[in-house]
Amino acid sequence: MVGFDRYEILKKDFPEPFWPSPFYSKSMNDIDTFMQLGFLRLETFFRRKNNTFFPVQLNGSIIPSQKESSVEFILLIEDISEKKKKEREFKLSQEMLLSLNNKLEKLVKKRTRQLQQVMNQKNEFINQLGHDLKNPLTPLMTLMPILHNEAPDDKTREIISRLDRNVQFMKNLIVSTVELAKLDSMDIPLSFESINLKRETDKILQSNFSLPNNKNIQIVNDVDENIILDADKIRLNELVNNLVSNSLKYGKKDGSVTITGKQLDNKTVQFQIKDDGIGMSHEQVANVFKEFYRVNQRNSIFKSSGLGMSICKKIVERHGGSIHCESEGLGKGTTFTCILPKNHQILEDGVVDVKAEQNTDVSSSRNEQKLSV
Ligand SMILES: Nc1ncnc2c1ncn2[C@@H]1O[C@H](COP(=O)(O)OP(=O)(O)O)[C@@H](O)[C@H]1O
Ligand SMILES: [Mg+2]
Repeated sequence: MVGFDRYEILKKDFPEPFWPSPFYSKSMNDIDTFMQLGFLRLETFFRRKNNTFFPVQLNGSIIPSQKESSVEFILLIEDISEKKKKEREFKLSQEMLLSLNNKLEKLVKKRTRQLQQVMNQKNEFINQLGHDLKNPLTPLMTLMPILHNEAPDDKTREIISRLDRNVQFMKNLIVSTVELAKLDSMDIPLSFESINLKRETDKILQSNFSLPNNKNIQIVNDVDENIILDADKIRLNELVNNLVSNSLKYGKKDGSVTITGKQLDNKTVQFQIKDDGIGMSHEQVANVFKEFYRVNQRNSIFKSSGLGMSICKKIVERHGGSIHCESEGLGKGTTFTCILPKNHQILEDGVVDVKAEQNTDVSSSRNEQKLSV
């Protein structure tokens, strides 16, 4: 290992030839402990005959003996040059990775800031454009029914009706686009308050869906009583309105829409809208929350903007929750499930966080209310 022959090693100045005194004397404490405890494990440097140094590990163990005058021991000497080299390389790559990580983190933060700026500009632009487009539509919308009533013949009336549908569609598209931009912008805060989910859902259904509908679809509010959660009432109304409207629009004649709500644990609430309507394919389910997605692109152009579900997703996310869609296939109905935190807390960066609430009783009482639409 060191290149000396045994006579050179066993000279008077042992172990100086292969274990030079600077390293040897540094290990004196370990050697003393070795004599007391009987075990040795130390790292030091040895010298080769060609005067090069290399790291070694010494593992020693004293052999119990009857003789008082001498000590017998086994000493294993391992050349750990390769191990040390690997350790150095590993440390170096770790340091490089760390500095790369730091650089990347800074870059991501910078890009996120830039992206947020661009998003804010986009939202401001959409907001401004929304107002600029909506303003000239208002007199048009007021004029349309008057023109329709005063039309001299059926053909003119039909043309005015078509114009009216166009104007309505444009207004809806503008309102939805502006709403989506508002939900996108963290600068526009939601207004959270503590609400009773069952009571709030009842109110929304009464005010938006109490009129009869030609499909005779029944809406069942089966939300558990006594669920209290933090929500923005206006946005919750929009969420329920969008989901129930879709269930009616894509529902079957004499079918039903069931709304359920239950507490999953003391932090989370599950809110579900289930219908037995036309259902959706896998591909449709996968795309339903994409902006401007409509299954029947051509036929529904004047009826829908394809923004309703994107708005629902944003509303639920701004509440710190998630939404997903399920359908067993075409003709087999659709279920939308929202998972919502009971409590919310706004963090510095505007992200909604869930705050744990202890010892909340989970209500098991249920109350059904049926509405015919
Ligand atoms: N309850 C449902 N049953 C079947 N299809 C649905 C349902 N809800 C949404 N969809 C499909 O998802 C598409 C996107 O929905 P949405 O964003 O609300 O747009 P739209 O304005 O067309 O209703 C709809 O065009 C429809 O094809
Ligand atoms: Mg819709």
